[in-house]
Amino acid sequence: MRALVFDRFGEPSEVLQLRELPPPRPGPGQVRVRMIASPINPSDLLLIRGAYGQRTQPPAVPGFEGVGVVEESGGGFLGWRVLGKRVAVLNSHGGNWQEQVVIPARQAVPVPDDLPEEQVASFFVNPATALVMITRVLQVPRGEWLLQTAANSALGKMIIRLGHALGFHTINVVRRPEARDELRSLRPDAVILWKEGDDLSQQLRDQLPQVNLRYAVDAVGGLLGSQIISCLGFGGRLVVYGTLSGQPLQFSPRELMVNSRRIEGFWLAEWTRNQGPLSMLRLFRQIARWMRRGVLVTEVAAQYPLERFQEAIQRAQTSGRSGKVLLRFGPVT
Ligand SMILES: NC(=O)c1ccc[n+]([C@@H]2O[C@H](COP(=O)([O-])OP(=O)(O)OC[C@H]3O[C@@H](n4cnc5c(N)ncnc54)[C@H](OP(=O)(O)O)[C@@H]3O)[C@@H](O)[C@H]2O)c1
Repeated sequence: MRALVFDRFGEPSEVLQLRELPPPRPGPGQVRVRMIASPINPSDLLLIRGAYGQRTQPPAVPGFEGVGVVEESGGGFLGWRVLGKRVAVLNSHGGNWQEQVVIPARQAVPVPDDLPEEQVASFFVNPATALVMITRVLQVPRGEWLLQTAANSALGKMIIRLGHALGFHTINVVRRPEARDELRSLRPDAVILWKEGDDLSQQLRDQLPQVNLRYAVDAVGGLLGSQIISCLGFGGRLVVYGTLSGQPLQFSPRELMVNSRRIEGFWLAEWTRNQGPLSMLRLFRQIARWMRRGVLVTEVAAQYPLERFQEAIQRAQTSGRSGKVLLRFGPVT
């Protein structure tokens, strides 16, 4: 079977190679999944660069999520339950960018048949992060305002739709005019175009003078992320969940003292480790429900067969692509 492997950390286009590997066999409590498709997410690229929170040692196969069919069980009730089913393939250590993958049976999540393959491919990483940050960590109440950066990302769009569905308002920061135009169809409550040298809190005051901001989420860091702190009103909370700029946050401690502001991190992999099976089951059901209602859905920009992985990687790293890039392991339909 074919797999995308990296032998050392580095730029994905330089270190990824397509290889033939022996098909894996599942042990007790495991299943073997024939992969159908897997998205290229920012976290996959970070893993290959050696910059992800948990370091998988090369040689390794990337790919944290995807969709596939369970073809073999190594034994156990959970494996028997999912045998033959189409599942969301959750792989917290990476490993989905190959035609066959072995995972613990509890990480093969059966999904309703009516959800399209392309959506099931991105069933977990972004939908779960958006839902958990908003409803379980921040618990944003109806009528409140939430500011988010990288608002035109797949995850950012989910948060805008969640805002409409749950009754909170979103202030959406983007870095390109085209991204602002692209968001229009989602009817965002406010969009701020921010570039280096701009003053975010001034932009916020100019555009929404009446808003007392108490909630924010940031995936960018650097100058932009640092400016969010001073936008927060009394008791305001900022959750950081991404490092897209690759730059650290820098601000005076005074910014936290004033208004009793708080800043905290969120990482889905860690949050998931601390959940019991019932909490995860509830989350999977919620995601499927919101996906069916068109809230936690992912636009797909392009799909590539495995042998064209170089083009796929390049496209995934291109600004303004407007949707996810998927790797396909069977024929591209
Ligand atoms: N903590 C967690 O557990 C967790 C879980 C899931 C996702 N995430 C993070 O969530 C973020 C979004 O993921 P995604 O899959 O939704 O992303 P995506 O759809 O691939 O979109 C990437 C977005 O990042 C923006 N971007 C890239 N570099 C930037 C920079 N230097 N400054 C500002 N914006 C920049 C792009 O803007 P342009 O369109 O202008 O290029 C685009 O909006 C990522 O950082 C990802 O790692 C974290």
